[in-house]
Amino acid sequence: MGTISVTHPFTFILFGASGHLAQIKLYPALYVLALKSRLPKDYAIIGFSRSAMTDEEFRALVEGAVREHMLEVTEPALEEFLTHVHYHQGQYDDVTDFKKLNERVTTIEKGFRSQELGVSTVRLAYFSVPPTVFGDISHNLCEGNVHDGTIPFRCIVEKPVGHDLKSFEAIKKQLLGCFQEEEIYLLDHYLGKEAVRNMYYLRYANPVLERIFKNTLIHHVEVTAMEEKGLEGRAGYFEAAGTLRDMFQSHLLMMASLLTMRLGTEGELHASRADALKQFYLPPVTKMDDIVLQAQYDGYQDEDGIQKGSRTNTYACLKLMTRMSKWEGVPFYLRSGKKLAKKETRISIQFQEPRAVGEGSAPNRLDIILQGEAGMRMHMQTKVGGTEPAFRPLVMVDPLVCVGDCLPEHSLLMLEAIHGKRQWYLDFNEVQTAWRLMDPIQGHLDAPETPLYSYVPGSIGPREAEEWIQKDTLTWLS
Ligand code: BG6
Repeated sequence: MGTISVTHPFTFILFGASGHLAQIKLYPALYVLALKSRLPKDYAIIGFSRSAMTDEEFRALVEGAVREHMLEVTEPALEEFLTHVHYHQGQYDDVTDFKKLNERVTTIEKGFRSQELGVSTVRLAYFSVPPTVFGDISHNLCEGNVHDGTIPFRCIVEKPVGHDLKSFEAIKKQLLGCFQEEEIYLLDHYLGKEAVRNMYYLRYANPVLERIFKNTLIHHVEVTAMEEKGLEGRAGYFEAAGTLRDMFQSHLLMMASLLTMRLGTEGELHASRADALKQFYLPPVTKMDDIVLQAQYDGYQDEDGIQKGSRTNTYACLKLMTRMSKWEGVPFYLRSGKKLAKKETRISIQFQEPRAVGEGSAPNRLDIILQGEAGMRMHMQTKVGGTEPAFRPLVMVDPLVCVGDCLPEHSLLMLEAIHGKRQWYLDFNEVQTAWRLMDPIQGHLDAPETPLYSYVPGSIGPREAEEWIQKDTLTWLS
């Protein structure tokens, strides 16, 4: 992918400016763009939230966030970056506050020198707020004329878009009440990760993979996202969401889709991903418990903000199949959990049993490790000396780290949004398809009679998850 630099001035309005995500990800991401000279001379970052704060206090908050979350800071770059930062206090449901915001933005933009040269400004609104206020914000952005149709506008919405299919549809309606569909950028930060995008480019650049990615050769696929971290101060959100909504509905399904989708051009990414998503289905079984299992780590209910008796899952595993013809009949096992032994995001493709069987023989396997000890590992077997066929593992390993113009995921996605590049954001069709698939599963997990197992923090998950996959005569690949 070519280097993108921004030439036109822009105003970036961040809703939820004092929130957790803004501090741990968004301010550092914007700072990185400034540091790497990827931003134009004229730009403004305007934090909007309900907290009372002066510009100076807000700049101190942004500065603190950058210092805390960057390994090192270049002082002149940070100082210059902070001169572009402003704050606007307001209520999300008060149109007067948005009218004032528009006056403020207009005044700031009048100071953009490049505007005098006829280069138009782009406005962006980033919704780093709970979905419950999306409606008010989008309505008031239009009513308050911050978005009046004359200035190019992008509305970036962080996942999760909704809580289920129904609430997603309501949010979609609210957003479309103000924005054109092509102005809406639905953000799944995994699609900003070089390693995740690489799933698509690896397939593109290595026709040999396309030849072996087919059901006659593949036995099963595992998509794993293990986290060491727990709630990270997000109890309110997580308690209502749980792991299935938080990780499967977006990140895990996206990774699986990037693996199975038809390889089209970048311009066709939305359609290809949506189609791949649509082809996933729940295998026909008599018991839902055979295709999904949930668990909660010991001590979750003692966390700040969590009620005793909570039934929120912090771990889940799920079996899916796909109708994509190349992958038909291949089971996909997805699993994710918090407070596990290690951070690892991985796709493992296990091939069929080898023909030559002897002591130590095992199926070939390809691991694409996207996070953790990122790398690609092809597991093969080689003969050990002797008259009998006996084998030892031969693992071909290469680290899969980003080399070149590497940006953190939010930096890359923001840059693309400023530039109007939308392919690596989701569209409504994709999110809707994912909710459609997830809703019945979530419904099953929510039922009081569905078991919620427990696991020890720092372990690899509940014992029952081992037994669950053993029913398919498999063990989790590690
Ligand atoms: C977020 C989830 O989308 O992804 C978090 O809301 C999760 O709960 C996070 O921890 C994981 O992202 P990453 O980039 O650390 O793999």
